[in-house]
Amino acid sequence: MKKRVAILISGRGSNMTALINSMTGDHPARPCVVISTTPKVQGLRNALERNTPTVTLNCGEYDRASESFERDLDIQLKRANAELICLAGFMRILSADFVGKWQGRILNIHPSLLPKFKGLNTHARVLAAGETVHGCTVHQVTAKLDDGPILGQLKLTVHKHDTAVTLADRVLKLEHVLYPVVLRHFIAGDLNQAALN
Ligand code: GRF
Repeated sequence: MKKRVAILISGRGSNMTALINSMTGDHPARPCVVISTTPKVQGLRNALERNTPTVTLNCGEYDRASESFERDLDIQLKRANAELICLAGFMRILSADFVGKWQGRILNIHPSLLPKFKGLNTHARVLAAGETVHGCTVHQVTAKLDDGPILGQLKLTVHKHDTAVTLADRVLKLEHVLYPVVLRHFIAGDLNQAALN
């Protein structure tokens, strides 16, 4: 039986696309649903083109309290028989309660070498800090933001002429390599850090 993977997005969904593209052939998993917090985004179109069912839970229609959003999210995940969740540019913070229910079954990709540069605007902050090495991380999600056990990282050298835009672009290319590799390792039960660099 293939593992059923739900992918949660909020926009462009390029990591989602890389994950879906990877789950073919002898891969031990298949995407079962893509859930977006934003209507009509590129990620939803890409998922449908790849015959993956989609659901929109429009964040704008929920209040800031997470209860009703997460109740609906849980309903959709159960409806799709999801066994694992991959967050891929998902812009809503999940509550400790929700994460607890899915303990050890949520992964996230973050555009920095965690534990450095948790949170948003990582590329600009990396430049402002004068870092010479940057990259991306896939980690398990725990109740603390961008903090769970690290499953894999890919690094690059920051060039003198890099801007936040060029860094975002270069790191994104690494993300598309890293996330599929880590997902495959994780499903095989390998929790060691994927050594890719
Ligand atoms: C990626 O940089 C990811 O690391 C971050 O948000 C961005 C999402 O991009 N969490 P995409 O939607 O996967 O194209």
